[in-house]
Amino acid sequence: MPYLDTCLIKKSLNDDAIKVFSYDETGSTNEEAKEKIKDGLTEEALFVADSQTMGKGRRGRSFYSPPHTGIYMSYVPVTDDPRLMTVCAAAAVALAIDELTHAGTMIKWVNDIYLDMKKVSGILCESTGDPRRYVIGIGINLFTRDFPDDISSLAGSVLTEDEGKIKREELIGLVIKKLRYFLLHRDEAINVYREKSLITGKTVRFIVKDREETGLVREIDNDGGLVIEKDDKSLVRLSTGEAEIVKDSLFKKGC
Ligand code: BTN
Repeated sequence: MPYLDTCLIKKSLNDDAIKVFSYDETGSTNEEAKEKIKDGLTEEALFVADSQTMGKGRRGRSFYSPPHTGIYMSYVPVTDDPRLMTVCAAAAVALAIDELTHAGTMIKWVNDIYLDMKKVSGILCESTGDPRRYVIGIGINLFTRDFPDDISSLAGSVLTEDEGKIKREELIGLVIKKLRYFLLHRDEAINVYREKSLITGKTVRFIVKDREETGLVREIDNDGGLVIEKDDKSLVRLSTGEAEIVKDSLFKKGC
């Protein structure tokens, strides 16, 4: 018996148009997806794995992907428009988790989902050898425990123990349904992303032109860029990179 029930995933997706590839163990579902695209995959597709041996994160990092407890999946849409893909995925993951668990997830620019100040999910969107095809990789720590030492203070799980309330297949289906919707309504995704932003109004440390700076996050613009006010009051816009919260500030949204 495979660890993930493909029939249940298909049932929760409720659309036969999506081709589902399921693995008990693989190196990386993003890599599986890219291989299949190289081999001529033209359809909309979803790659899911019970565990990954080489789960990839952004900036060359790894994504801890032990068996039976997390969701590791890569969605290949039919759209060739990459705008706001990470934003769409983050909004879909955050809302799907909230809907199934009644949690109050937050989104940390640019690609992380947080719960109780711990990272519970990460997103890695990648281009492929085919300029018309993209891979949206999503990792969710659903019941994961015992994180490696280097991430144990930062990583958390959606549920603290296997409460048996949520099936991974059900959450997979809900995330993909929401993601498909947001890819067709990207303006709605950016609104959710803004509403759930963890760092708007916070002081952050960031790197720009190889220099570390700090500033106050003023907003997330329509293209998903982070607008930061530096101490000298000038504005800087980050389209990608990292922004680490250094302290809560008194700035309130809307003031
Ligand atoms: C990050 O946190 O920097 C992004 C993590 C993305 C992890 C997912 S798990 C499924 C897919 N396959 C991978 O190798 N990575 C993504």
